[in-house]
Amino acid sequence: MARVIYLAEGPRVALRYISMRDFEELAALNEESATMLARWMPGGPIVTYEAFARYMTRFDGPANEGFLICLRDSGAIVGRVNINNIIRGGHQSAMIGYSAYASTTGRGYMTEGLGLLVGHAFGDMGLHRLEANIQPDNASSLSLIKRVGFQREGYSPNFQFIDGAWRDHERWALTVEMTGHVSGLNSQVTAT
Ligand SMILES: CC(C)(COP(=O)(O)OP(=O)(O)OC[C@H]1O[C@@H](n2cnc3c(N)ncnc32)[C@H](O)[C@@H]1OP(=O)(O)O)[C@@H](O)C(=O)NCCC(=O)NCCS
Repeated sequence: MARVIYLAEGPRVALRYISMRDFEELAALNEESATMLARWMPGGPIVTYEAFARYMTRFDGPANEGFLICLRDSGAIVGRVNINNIIRGGHQSAMIGYSAYASTTGRGYMTEGLGLLVGHAFGDMGLHRLEANIQPDNASSLSLIKRVGFQREGYSPNFQFIDGAWRDHERWALTVEMTGHVSGLNSQVTAT
């Protein structure tokens, strides 16, 4: 088995890039979680190799990065988080999307994993702002994003097409200044 390279590690979970080798494990998790995810995540569950290969092409360019949250002891996947719509230059911003799975939710893994993701985004990736858009009735996601330190910025009516309708979303964001992280790129931007 190929050696796993983690980008960041916490007490219970670690963060790594998603890869084509994750197909079987993710397909099983997506299948068991189809009902849980349908109301909150765009697109249907990815359970075929062809659909997964198509999904993975979004990470070919610089605009999107895909990560998995895994248990440190077994390596089992417990969550997924993407950094999407990365804008460089004077913004250094991106949008995050995430999910746990039916057998992994409600254990604190996502809170720890998103904390690692924020550290990686504001550290090695040099980003300055992360945004999360959440439906107002998605209580679990709102609790999670508050625990990680995001603040509510606003409300976007008809923001995204999910589960057959255009859904309103709350806009939450976190900047480097709110965390005490030091971003190398950020200091370059302010210096020019
Ligand atoms: C949103 C979502 C990722 C939140 O995940 P989660 O499993 O609640 O997050 P965590 O893994 O951090 O678990 C936190 C919960 O576990 C509980 N928990 C249990 N054991 C714990 C432990 N040892 N440590 C910390 N928390 C623990 C916490 O109390 C918390 O419950 P609460 O929110 O009722 O207070 C998940 O519900 C999900 O995937 N939903 C469907 C997809 C989705 O909505 N994605 C986001 C779209 S915006």
